[in-house]
Amino acid sequence: MPRRNKIALIGAGNIGGELAALAAREQIGDVVLFDIPEKEGLAKGKALDLEQNGSVLGYDVKITGTSNWDDCAGSDVVIVTAGVPRKPGMSRDDLLSINLKIIRNVAENVKTKCKDAFVIVISNPLDAMVFEMKKVSGLPAKRVVGMAGVLDSARMTLFLARELGVSSKDVRAMVLGGHGDTMVPVTSYCTVNGVPIKTLIGKDKLDAIVTRTAGGGGEIVKLMGTSAYYAPASAAIAMAKAYLYDEKRMLPCAAYCEGEYGYKDLYIGVPCVIGGGGVEKIVSIELNAEEKAQLDKSAAAVRELVEASKKL
Ligand code: APR
Repeated sequence: MPRRNKIALIGAGNIGGELAALAAREQIGDVVLFDIPEKEGLAKGKALDLEQNGSVLGYDVKITGTSNWDDCAGSDVVIVTAGVPRKPGMSRDDLLSINLKIIRNVAENVKTKCKDAFVIVISNPLDAMVFEMKKVSGLPAKRVVGMAGVLDSARMTLFLARELGVSSKDVRAMVLGGHGDTMVPVTSYCTVNGVPIKTLIGKDKLDAIVTRTAGGGGEIVKLMGTSAYYAPASAAIAMAKAYLYDEKRMLPCAAYCEGEYGYKDLYIGVPCVIGGGGVEKIVSIELNAEEKAQLDKSAAAVRELVEASKKL
């Protein structure tokens, strides 16, 4: 019997709520908004508010708020935002010990209740969290992916568009590497409708945009005292749709490398084809020497974090 897709959102906080709003509005499936028992009221309240929102906006999907993992059973897509967001002055890495415990708990439940799902991790520090999710859940690597590159690239896209006075719709930016200060905005692949960015903008301005992109999350944390949620949610929904609708989109995602780019047993942001098979392919693109060196540095920082999590 045909049935609707089921989307489980683990964490009903700022990003979780926006994910639920987008998933409902775009009607990609029925939504289960999960949080810990102390926050069950929040999850149920947001779910009810969003179902009522459908009566105004004209969508009709089922949205359930819960703190019971049984309600997530059999989900097609699981998006994980469980954890603590950054406070001003904190780096994503400062979150490691707190969020590691949380991700392990979530991964154990994914293993038993959602073993056939495509899992998108958003919790920070992203690359270490997604590594842990795969390790503990035992799901195949192609069905466990981290959301970072789509967001970081979107940030860079906007900064370039504003600087050049063109629509962000025509800018293509690509940010690879770990989701932290060492991320790698790959300027050689940034274009405005195919026109290489370096022919349109001076080096100083481009360098400033690269720096602003790497600190793009922190800039928002400083302004509002917690991390961003609109663009992170949209980025994860784009990835979920690529899977659910077998779109074969080539997106920068934190994917499990088994030799690609010279990295083994490591999650890091690389261009991936996302379709019905999950991460169907990691695309190897040519990087110039400087970009490769930056990616290596970023990979080393991620590996350090993963090694640190092994001791926690
Ligand atoms: N299971 C499910 N949910 C949990 C768990 C758990 N074990 N532990 C905590 N949570 C919930 C919290 O109760 C909270 O409601 O996760 C939610 C997180 O929501 P927010 O605090 O609003 O954080 P948010 O801004 O959504 O960011 C979540 O994504 O981008 C990252 O750095 C960010 O790690 C952070 C995560």
